[in-house]
Amino acid sequence: MEKNETLCEQHFPSFNPHVAQLPTYNAGLNIAVAKAISGRDDIARLASNENPDGCSPNVLQALASPAFEPWRYADPACTALREAIAESLGVLPEAIVAGNGSEELIAAISRAFLTAGETVVTVVPSFGLHEIEPLATGARVIKIPMTHSFGFDLPALQNALHQKPKILFLSSPWNPVGTVLSHDELVQIISALTPETLFVFDEAYVEYKDAKAPDGLKMLHEARVPYISLRTFSKAYGLAGLRVGYAICSAVEIARVVSAAKPPFNVNAAGQLAAQAALNDQAWMQSSVKGVRLERERVLQALTELGYRVAPSQTNFVFFDCGGDSSIVATELVKQGIIVKPWREAGYTTYMRATIGRDIDNDRLIDALRTR
Ligand SMILES: Cc1ncc(COP(=O)(O)O)c(C=O)c1O
Repeated sequence: MEKNETLCEQHFPSFNPHVAQLPTYNAGLNIAVAKAISGRDDIARLASNENPDGCSPNVLQALASPAFEPWRYADPACTALREAIAESLGVLPEAIVAGNGSEELIAAISRAFLTAGETVVTVVPSFGLHEIEPLATGARVIKIPMTHSFGFDLPALQNALHQKPKILFLSSPWNPVGTVLSHDELVQIISALTPETLFVFDEAYVEYKDAKAPDGLKMLHEARVPYISLRTFSKAYGLAGLRVGYAICSAVEIARVVSAAKPPFNVNAAGQLAAQAALNDQAWMQSSVKGVRLERERVLQALTELGYRVAPSQTNFVFFDCGGDSSIVATELVKQGIIVKPWREAGYTTYMRATIGRDIDNDRLIDALRTR
């Protein structure tokens, strides 16, 4: 076949309609494209909530050690990693499922629990996969808008829970907003939950939350509701490129079925070794989190002083209203070599999410927004 031959005329079997109609995931702009547009090599990468500090040196050491055997299949059960996580949390290893990033676990959970026509409740704005993965199963997704003060609309969420949806997906700290569910809000959600609803409590940014924020996992555990907490090594531990996340399930049976819904060798050898090394270096992670929090407050204050309405944040990003179409503002920023994430969900297209990066990158963002 010629390389430029068109395949438009080809006949093929019909697609799964739920998948064919999926909205596109709003991923950050490709770096090569940003370099081409800006003519700069030093791109400020503030779109994907990566860690500006890199990762613990222990990770790189582990990957250079003889324990790393790329020619072998890695342990499909991630036994050593799951045991290490379980010990750090005081839970059973059998209640943990490891994933190729926590995004894979969102897909596995959807596949494990949902069938066409069932209902999922989440919020808007939201992490795209909380909607996309349920939709792929044919489920219906109800999205509760945030309040004017960047909070969760508790009465609306409680109402929706009274309809007994199959899954409630919420991230706390909340991507993209940055706020967390307070103790009282969690109590209200827990009291509205019935055993018919699984609470998927996505804690991808848990390490960044304030010390006084509630321990949601503990509260869910004590309330004995069906839940899965999702966590990741992509953010505070700086392993986004290695793809390791995990699910902490309220019942071993839930973990068993979620595990059955994922591919067998899903977490590769490098990821398993790296995640264990990262977990063992809590001092590195905590020092990185401390630096990011300080930078976050500096950026938040600077944007507020420039007149932007910025949501309070307990994460490694800030969410703000840029007063016009955020895609247009993002395009202006790319021309200066700065990539951020313009929000595309209906009702929120004036909002933008910017990762807390290195101080020089944050300064570039602040300066660019100042001179708009
Ligand atoms: C709320 C939330 N959940 C899950 C993920 C997926 O993370 P990963 O697949 O890298 O573990 C992200 C990534 O940005 C996120 O923001």
